[in-house]
Amino acid sequence: MDRRVALRPVKVWDAPVRLFHWAIVLLVGFSWLSIEESWMQLHFLSGYTILALLIFRIVWGVIGSDTARFSRFLGSPAAALRHLSHFRRREPDLEVGHNAAGGWMVLLMLLLLLVQAGSGLFANDDVMNEGPLAHLAGKALSDRLTSLHGLTFTLVQIAVLLHVLAVIAYAVVKRQDLVRPMVTGVKRLPATVPAPRLGRLWTALSLLGAAALAVVLLVNVAGR
Ligand code: HEM
Ligand code: HEM
Repeated sequence: MDRRVALRPVKVWDAPVRLFHWAIVLLVGFSWLSIEESWMQLHFLSGYTILALLIFRIVWGVIGSDTARFSRFLGSPAAALRHLSHFRRREPDLEVGHNAAGGWMVLLMLLLLLVQAGSGLFANDDVMNEGPLAHLAGKALSDRLTSLHGLTFTLVQIAVLLHVLAVIAYAVVKRQDLVRPMVTGVKRLPATVPAPRLGRLWTALSLLGAAALAVVLLVNVAGR
């Protein structure tokens, strides 16, 4: 980029999206660890927290900050392909939110995690543990959803691997650091790039509380 173009710090990621991201990273890792260590109650707890965070994130994707909104970051497949076609070009980072290709990957990861946590509610381990809604499904369907739960995790692992490789590729090929903005929220952008409108923190907190309540009710009322 022309070095004379003045850059200014712009808050692109709000705190709720950043906290959502890093909490998901920790909790997906912990869900895996807890299964490896057979800490089933902690596995369930971690899964419920992920479910509440996903409900929050999906609604925030409709009513939240510009950069969190699905309508903003899900463009046409043609736009995604166009973005990928100049992947090897070294160019300044002018993205205010997810890029045209990354947006679809984000949607895929959110959906996979939703299926993962949702199927877990109906899963059983054939020994003494079952998700709180397994009894509603019956043994045969619960078994099939348990297989889905295992299969989905493989897909989550593949998606996360591609996701992290993409972030590394942006750093190496394009010299764009996407990670720092996901930590601090801030990118340095030319003054010509308008700042996004960010949602209110109290709205996000209320929404998160409502999502947590919905999961507690689901587990305790529909469950047993
Ligand atoms: C379990 C592992 C991970 C999962 C499930 C995951 C999932 C996601 C999701 C869902 C988003 C979209 C955020 C949103 O709009 O709410 C995202 C964005 C992002 N993630 Fe991850 N992530 C994982 C690990 C990582 C790691 C280890 C890194 C760092 C190397 C990373 C770096 C990023 C960055 C930089 C973005 C923003 C990309 C952009 O600028 O468009 N993620 N991730
Ligand atoms: C996104 C969150 C979750 C992740 C990443 C995750 C991951 C996993 C993994 C990797 C396994 C082992 C699968 C296998 O051996 O084939 C597993 C098993 C299991 N999970 Fe989850 N899980 C999540 C959420 C949940 C939830 C919310 C529940 C229920 C409340 C749950 C209940 C179970 C049960 C009962 C098993 C044992 C199944 C068996 O023995 O084959 N999981 N989970």
